[in-house]
Amino acid sequence: MNLAVFASGKGSNFSAIAKAVKEGRVKAKLKILVCDQPQAAVIRRAQGTGVRVVLVCRRDFARRLDFETAIAEKLEEYRIDLIALAGFMRLLSPGFVRRYFGRIINIHPSLLPAFKGAHAIRDAFDAGVEVTGVTVHFVDEKVDHGPVILQDGLLVKKSDTLASLEKKIHLLEHRIYPQAISLLISGKCKAPRRKAK
Ligand code: GRF
Repeated sequence: MNLAVFASGKGSNFSAIAKAVKEGRVKAKLKILVCDQPQAAVIRRAQGTGVRVVLVCRRDFARRLDFETAIAEKLEEYRIDLIALAGFMRLLSPGFVRRYFGRIINIHPSLLPAFKGAHAIRDAFDAGVEVTGVTVHFVDEKVDHGPVILQDGLLVKKSDTLASLEKKIHLLEHRIYPQAISLLISGKCKAPRRKAK
């Protein structure tokens, strides 16, 4: 099983997955990091673990189609079976997502369908919820949407600040993303069949 992680930023989930692979908790080969931001910290993390970095910048391509074709070529080259989005801050086209449906997953820092979007932890905190959590799901054509693979929740304490909640959510992410990937690799969780259009 060949795995690719797509990330644009800090890369703490990349590191959690890389560690799980190294320790044999995720039985896959982490072949590539696909990153669209040349300055992203995740690039240094990948270099530190010996994972090949594929840097693909949107501005180098006239059309999104060309950008995604360049990514798809790399996925073919490295024979990638599973794509794990981990803070990849670029919307992938419906065509790209359809092509890889069932083989492309995402992690989101809320209990979807609650709090979609780029500020999920803050939005949940501001809403004053008592429970929030993390979702790993198959990616479909809609943003932060698709069949759920794994969710886990936590209680928001009265004493929590936004910073303490962020920390707890990230720790939960680092635990459940490798678990969700393992569920797919073992076949315990399978992608749902898509309805014929
Ligand atoms: C995570 O909170 C993830 O849920 C969201 O983007 C963030 C990425 O964090 N999709 P990191 O770059 O893995 O540290």
